[in-house]
Amino acid sequence: MNKIPFNKSPVVGIEIDYIREAIDSKYLAGDGVFSRKCEATLENMTGTKKALLMPSCTAGLEICAMLVNIQPGDEVILPSFTFVSTANAFVLRGAKVIFVDVEADTMNISPSAIKAAITPRTKAIVVVHYAGVSCKMDEIMGIAATHNLFVIEDAAQAIGNSYKGKALGTIGHLGVFSFHETKNITSGGEGGASFNK
Ligand SMILES: Cc1ncc(COP(=O)(O)O)c(C=O)c1O
Repeated sequence: MNKIPFNKSPVVGIEIDYIREAIDSKYLAGDGVFSRKCEATLENMTGTKKALLMPSCTAGLEICAMLVNIQPGDEVILPSFTFVSTANAFVLRGAKVIFVDVEADTMNISPSAIKAAITPRTKAIVVVHYAGVSCKMDEIMGIAATHNLFVIEDAAQAIGNSYKGKALGTIGHLGVFSFHETKNITSGGEGGASFNK
């Protein structure tokens, strides 16, 4: 019986040479020449002003929760179909997470379900571009503008994809990528990046 692997790590063979170069450069804790190159590459690739490398996408989501100043009792709307970090990052700041339905054809958050879930306590909408498929960003950004809400894009699975010519992860107020081993690009185990517009 042939076993079908869940994923194949995108290892290309030059990693060890670069790891050696990073060790020799004495920037083992990060923020060295490779971090700068990587952030510049992400900025060019996505057309965003600032990309910041993170230890993981989970860490990036936690920073987004701090940046939009989530306070205990704030409500955050997110899709019922996602990875646990999408919710936990906001629960950790005391938010009440409101899970709403996804659409059958895209498996992504439904704009009408978002609208129906908004209350005076709603602070943010977190969208997830599941498996790299884009959410309906025009509609979602319109709803957010009407109700003065932040939009955070969990683009963990969406590096390299776009919506109407704009890189996913750069359409909302903040966005995050994952470089976990199961993602399209890996930094070797764990890794992530956060963006602002
Ligand atoms: C939608 C989604 N959000 C967040 C994460 C968390 O990413 P990381 O493992 O880089 O923390 C994942 C990882 O599987 C994910 O699929």
